[in-house]
Amino acid sequence: MKVAILSAMREEITPFLEKYPHYSVQEVGGNTYYLVKAEGYEIILAYSKIGKVHSALSASTMILHFGAEKLIFSGVAGGLSPKLKVGDLVIANKLCQYDVDISAFGHPLGFIPESSVYIQADQKLNALAKTVAQEMGIGLHEGIIASGDSFIASAEKKKWLIETFGADAVEMEGASVANVCHLLKIPFCILRSISDSADGEADVSFDEFLESSAKISADFVEAMLKKGL
Ligand code: ADE
Repeated sequence: MKVAILSAMREEITPFLEKYPHYSVQEVGGNTYYLVKAEGYEIILAYSKIGKVHSALSASTMILHFGAEKLIFSGVAGGLSPKLKVGDLVIANKLCQYDVDISAFGHPLGFIPESSVYIQADQKLNALAKTVAQEMGIGLHEGIIASGDSFIASAEKKKWLIETFGADAVEMEGASVANVCHLLKIPFCILRSISDSADGEADVSFDEFLESSAKISADFVEAMLKKGL
């Protein structure tokens, strides 16, 4: 089976390249794709660069060009739920684009005509993630992930995301990847480890915990692969 593992930043994909060093590389559309046989899969690894446009391009490339049959996103996020602390793991049960706004026409924030505010993640992959977490004896939070093209670093914006979308975590790629996978009918799981709390100290926390939280996420994906997608 061909599995795509996508991240946004180099620091988020590096742990995988260290785990699976016998890869070959292909350049497509300004990004590098790392192809490797490991854990019984043909794995396609890439980091897209940050934001919804880059991640949508990479997810599409992994599916349409490289033939990925399932996709797992691994990376870091800002925690919105008070239950989420730095290093905690979260999977999305559904995702939204918080920066889509056609409310001038009476639509709810995040709504896109002929689409919806929220995109559901694959229940089987999420169930696998929950089983793996249970077997490893670690906590795994399941909730709403809100994505948009901003780094959230204020208590005010954080409150707005919680109140408007019921969001538990915020990042900059999950919902666009979810959209691509949903439209191309590819099961996906969006996994994140918390690097900051999306508040006034988020920038400092992000810089401090990006690498360690990225590794926590990557280690968990490795356990999912070993369990069997
Ligand atoms: N990724 C990690 N932390 C984030 C934050 N606070 N805002 C947006 N994306 C993030």
